Amino acid sequence: MIVLGIETSCDETGVAVYDGEHGLLADMLYSQVDLHRLYGGVVPELASRDHVQRLLPMIRDCLGQAGIERPEGVAYTAGPGLVGALLVGAALGRSLAYAWGVPAVGVHHMEAHLLAPMLEPRRPPLPFVALLVSGGHTMLVNVTGIGAYQILGESLDDAAGEAFDKTAKLLGLPYPGGPHLARLAEGGTAGAFRFPRPMTDRPGLDFSFSGLKTAALNALPRATDEQGRADLARGFEDAVVETLAIKCERALAQEGVRALVVSGGVGANRRLRARLTEVASEAGAEVFYPKPEYCTDNGAMVAYAGHARLAAGQHEPLRIGARARWPIDTLTALEA
Ligand code: KG4
Ligand code: ZN
Repeated sequence: MIVLGIETSCDETGVAVYDGEHGLLADMLYSQVDLHRLYGGVVPELASRDHVQRLLPMIRDCLGQAGIERPEGVAYTAGPGLVGALLVGAALGRSLAYAWGVPAVGVHHMEAHLLAPMLEPRRPPLPFVALLVSGGHTMLVNVTGIGAYQILGESLDDAAGEAFDKTAKLLGLPYPGGPHLARLAEGGTAGAFRFPRPMTDRPGLDFSFSGLKTAALNALPRATDEQGRADLARGFEDAVVETLAIKCERALAQEGVRALVVSGGVGANRRLRARLTEVASEAGAEVFYPKPEYCTDNGAMVAYAGHARLAAGQHEPLRIGARARWPIDTLTALEA
């Protein structure tokens, strides 16, 4: 089955075509960062309007690249995310499917992130534990099948990506700050700044990152020159990476599984990837990542997740719907 995937949950317009037999046929991404940079963060209304302008021409180009006139199914991100932005993809995706006479399915954005490593030649075996670290969510999920998700722990306040972005802003770095902060941290000295590893001193798998941002703010006056800023960035990055690593180690031991999946924008972080590879190997497990460009938002992961559901016979009625909030553990599990 050939599925068109559409991602418009935030500030990236992603379109891709996935073929169950031959894999990814085409994949296009437009990032709105230049549009939002001026405001230091995503402006929802501007995001929606830009998706409206870009989406249809991108779909046309993407189908052309894939060499097909129409797909056999359409998948669009239906939540969670910015509701106006989501509605653009949902309205167009659902309507095109109707016009083409093919089924449509609304995809859960975090499920798409979670399944993104399935696009790689080396796929994670079930069951696995997934660490989802994006701009809006941080969670550990036990995965026993597609749609069979048990949340083991999640952030009680800021997501890891949000903490990266807010700390980057304190350091005067442009939006979105995560990758900029990571680059600055490369020149920093480990241990020059030491920040807490929140919630690692008590049992459980929940996270809290808002205190780290405050700790970074309090340390800012001590970062008096360029080296000091790099040292602070390094101290902050190490704190987030170590906190995530400790919880992943715990989750692997608790669930007794042999595979760890890491996905979502922060999953593109090089130091995090290196550290989690060590943690997994010490736990006798293997770690699986999507390639960095499929860690951040993209259409390919939506096409893949939608394909799994459409191929199993799931589809939406003739209704355009999007959800700003949508707990991942309420999804329908596909039969194995
Ligand atoms: O998954 P994503 O593209 O969008 C959401 O679904 O939220 O994640 C975006 C987040 C942003 O907070 C961004 O700063 C962060 O991922 N990010 C990174 C890196 N690349 C992206 N954070 C740390 N290091 C990176 N290399
Ligand atoms: Zn995302």
